[in-house]
Amino acid sequence: MKAIVFTKYGTPDVLELREVDKPIPKDDEVLIKVYAVSINDWDWALLQGDLINRLLNGLLKPKKKILGSDIAGRIEAVGKNVRQFQPGDEVFGDLSGDWGGFAEYVCARENALALKPASMTFEEAAAIPQAAMLAVQGLRDKGQIQPGQKLLINGAGGGVGTFAVQIAKLYGVEVTGVDSSGKLDMLRSMGFDQVIDYTQEDFTKNGQCYDLILDVKTNRSIFDYTRALSPNGIYVTVGGSMVRLFQALLLGPWISMISKKNIRLVALKQNKDLAYMNELFEAGKVKPVIDGPYKLSEVPEAMRYFGEGKHKGKVVITLEHNKGHLNSE
Ligand SMILES: NC(=O)c1ccc[n+]([C@@H]2O[C@H](COP(=O)([O-])OP(=O)(O)OC[C@H]3O[C@@H](n4cnc5c(N)ncnc54)[C@H](OP(=O)(O)O)[C@@H]3O)[C@@H](O)[C@H]2O)c1
Repeated sequence: MKAIVFTKYGTPDVLELREVDKPIPKDDEVLIKVYAVSINDWDWALLQGDLINRLLNGLLKPKKKILGSDIAGRIEAVGKNVRQFQPGDEVFGDLSGDWGGFAEYVCARENALALKPASMTFEEAAAIPQAAMLAVQGLRDKGQIQPGQKLLINGAGGGVGTFAVQIAKLYGVEVTGVDSSGKLDMLRSMGFDQVIDYTQEDFTKNGQCYDLILDVKTNRSIFDYTRALSPNGIYVTVGGSMVRLFQALLLGPWISMISKKNIRLVALKQNKDLAYMNELFEAGKVKPVIDGPYKLSEVPEAMRYFGEGKHKGKVVITLEHNKGHLNSE
């Protein structure tokens, strides 16, 4: 089968389209013919090989050589202990930890997968798992979002932000989005009530306060974020600068003690809310924002584009056998 392989850490130039062996599912795994896969920040970090990702995937060179976690496809074969799925089922899910999605076939444990609704394209399905789970778990579980609140999303135009605004609107909140100037029109068209260009304005210093802040960048001091929270406000980070995240982790409990403001971090529960996302999608309440789709051979270019932060929503790769981007063959 064809796959995008990397044998050393580096820039997207180290990614190569190669012919490799088709994987064989273990007893508790299924073999999936991949129809679409999306790019996540974690793919980018693994490719570059920062210290944390080297500890996960090999200090000197990558042990898992095929990136790609958020996949959608059709089950081709099942291991003997698999109970939930059968060949022919259309599924999607986040395989991070195992990866292997930038390929024509991948194996996955059945608990990493959900059935894809027939009305959802494979590209839409591949866009959902990691970004939508972070948005749901950030807003609902950690953020305890309530009707009538003022919400700010920092890093609003990427994967998490474009899901988060749609979910937040279901709660009847007023949403402000922060991103670069080229993305503000898209944010307005998606229903953000206010937009802020972070290159022109610092939202932590403009005197506005928010009941809930969802942050995908975490690039400022925790004291700046605290200042932008209303008296009982909650700040939720899903990721960003490691130094800033440690600061939030260490000082968050102390800030909660001396004020009524809360600082919370999301630890992703992979695939936990896929069924909920299916419900929202089928009810027409959420639609993934897709940048692309690119071909498998274009993964290096798509990764470069992702790394430059130029994308809007989710960068999606579609496989050659997903002819015409149809749901079903
Ligand atoms: N908590 C967990 O367990 C867990 C698990 C997996 C991933 N994550 C994290 O989840 C996040 C993924 O978010 P995502 O998929 O939405 O990323 P994304 O698609 O890369 O979107 C990030 C957005 O932020 C914008 N941005 C860049 N610099 C900014 C700044 N200074 N201020 C405001 N916006 C800025 C980018 O646009 P421009 O570049 O045009 O500015 C982009 O639109 C990452 O932080 C990742 O580490 C967390």
